[in-house]
Amino acid sequence: MHERTAPSSVRGSSASGPALGFALALAAALAACSPAASPNEPGSQRGSELYATMGCLACHGASGAGGSMAPPLTELEQHWDRAGLAAYLENPRAHIEKDARLAALKQRYGTEMPALTLPEADRLAVADYLLALPAPAGP
Ligand code: HEC
Repeated sequence: MHERTAPSSVRGSSASGPALGFALALAAALAACSPAASPNEPGSQRGSELYATMGCLACHGASGAGGSMAPPLTELEQHWDRAGLAAYLENPRAHIEKDARLAALKQRYGTEMPALTLPEADRLAVADYLLALPAPAGP
């Protein structure tokens, strides 16, 4: 589903030299810290990139503002901690079955939140990014 809606610019781009170097530097920087033990990194850059490249943006909109296909992601700290959010991303369906709030959201938007099958460090980076999103302005 979300594969079709992923931005074509991302899909089509090949790993150019500088981009690859950047990715390696990022990987090295990530490896240097222990993700599970580290505190929230507000606005995780890695998480932001994954949000854009893994198709989240297509449904949840820029900066998690929400859209016609998926709810906003701007006040997740009311429902999730970092580890819980990373676990949800790996298996949304298991959570939807147990959580009436999530089931109602799924019903309302009529789309299905895909599982993010990435290593835990990456899911934690996405969780950090999401938990640091600023609340929407105004009522
Ligand atoms: C096909 C559209 C779609 C895509 C793509 C998508 N989501 Fe979702 N997402 C949903 C829907 C619908 C829900 C509503 C609840 C549910 O299904 O669990 C949701 C729920 C969520 C929630 C829980 C919100 C809450 O209030 O607790 C988070 C967090 C989330 N998505 C993050 C992501 C991330 C990160 C990605 C990219 C890896 C992503 N979503 C990709 C549709 C999508």
